[in-house]
Amino acid sequence: MIIAIDGPAASGKGTLAKRIAAHYGLGWLDTGLLYRAVARDVVVKGGRLEDLGAAIAAARAIDATTLCDPHLRGPRAGDDASMIAKIPEVRAALLDYQRTFAQQGKGAVLDGRDIGTVVCPDARVKIFVTASDEARARRRFLEHHGRGDTITYEELLADIRRRDARDSNRSVAPLAAAPDAILLDTTDLDADQAFVAAMKIIEKKVGK
Ligand code: CDP
Repeated sequence: MIIAIDGPAASGKGTLAKRIAAHYGLGWLDTGLLYRAVARDVVVKGGRLEDLGAAIAAARAIDATTLCDPHLRGPRAGDDASMIAKIPEVRAALLDYQRTFAQQGKGAVLDGRDIGTVVCPDARVKIFVTASDEARARRRFLEHHGRGDTITYEELLADIRRRDARDSNRSVAPLAAAPDAILLDTTDLDADQAFVAAMKIIEKKVGK
């Protein structure tokens, strides 16, 4: 079974996808980490994010064993990722890895922006997770502060809005709900309530 969880920045897709995967014993891939890692690798090699050739080369050479790097969750890494995520060749280079991951054993839960539309259009269940900009910025603020990162709520709100606009308006695989995705608005839900709501969607779709 493949479950696609898409949605805008900091909407709680990752937390939700991780719990759903654990519940069903499925693999879990946070596809945002792939884009974050490509941006990291460009910068580590001394390149600039605006350099198409450097970004494409980094995507083609991506090493999935480096995705557990905690720096990928740093306060600026999401914005860097969205800069290189708009490059068609970067996205193409990351497709095989994501599709192969989805096909493993019993299946997998993948979270991102284009899982239900491009990466796994045949996913059994597609959920598009949203929440208000302010709720998302608040959650991200608590997450960063828990790790000791110094970034303000206002900076995070601006980052979320800037990234959503960039991700939604790019020409290839823009952030969008698949026509057959079920919307889940988590503005007024905590992580447990969001999980319960997602499980209801999944069980209705696949049967208990
Ligand atoms: O966790 P958060 O929602 O803040 O971001 P993420 O899922 O780690 O994604 C970081 C950036 O990678 C996004 O802003 C997108 O530009 C890009 N991304 C994408 O284009 N396609 C995906 N499937 C996943 C992420």
